[in-house]
Amino acid sequence: MAVSCFVAFLALAIAFSHLPLLPLASDQDPLQDFCVADFVQPLHVTGYACKNPALVNASDFVYHGLSQRGNTSNYNNAAATLCFVEHFAGLNSLGLSMARLDLELGGIIPPHIHPRGSEIIFVIQGSLYAGFVDTKNRLFAQVINAGDVMLFPRGLIHFQLNVGKVPAFAIVALNGQEPGLQFIANSMFGSYIKPEVLEKTFSLSGNVVETLQSFFSKP
Ligand SMILES: *[C@@H]1O[C@H](CO)[C@@H](O)[C@H](O)[C@H]1NC(C)=O
Ligand SMILES: *[C@@H]1O[C@H](CO)[C@@H](O)[C@H](O)[C@H]1NC(C)=O
Repeated sequence: MAVSCFVAFLALAIAFSHLPLLPLASDQDPLQDFCVADFVQPLHVTGYACKNPALVNASDFVYHGLSQRGNTSNYNNAAATLCFVEHFAGLNSLGLSMARLDLELGGIIPPHIHPRGSEIIFVIQGSLYAGFVDTKNRLFAQVINAGDVMLFPRGLIHFQLNVGKVPAFAIVALNGQEPGLQFIANSMFGSYIKPEVLEKTFSLSGNVVETLQSFFSKP
């Protein structure tokens, strides 16, 4: 039996060996219909433990947190309201998440990365100058308008700037339950890296680094 399985496997491997290698980059496949996160139990390497399925009902699969505009009273004049697994327990093990973006006139979601998810954006209202930079520092950017969809591959630095004449509204989906969100400027200047590192990296004077650090270390 084991030998015939192996032969069959070998035959399949040879039959498909001419096909290009397909990427397998997403969260793990679930082992049950659903695994609503049980936040009481400790976090595992594969995510949260499952809530007892007998206690799961329709409410576990509905999230209301994206129904309101985000609070854009901040220096970016924009808000990213997240719907990751820690906000929406039902996402656990499904390899999915969402966010809503609200940008006032001139508002920006500044350069950031999602280390564990590719992103697809759908613009509902307004015009965004959106783009990403690849690892060869090539910029892929253009203006996208209501109805347009754009992709930001996993882990690459990307941004969205409202260049329209109305507040912009967009929804994004990501292929990870906890894709992570790291703003480049905040990570550099808001994390108390030794100033000398930043002075040398960005060729800045100590005064400028100090100013940037005090700005970005604000909560
Ligand atoms: C699901 O169960 C919770 C209590 O565990 C209850 O508050 C909620 O109303 C239920 N929702 C539905 C749709 O039955
Ligand atoms: C929006 O954020 C600002 C700045 O943090 C805060 O002062 C204001 O109360 C918030 N508005 C609402 C409606 O939460």
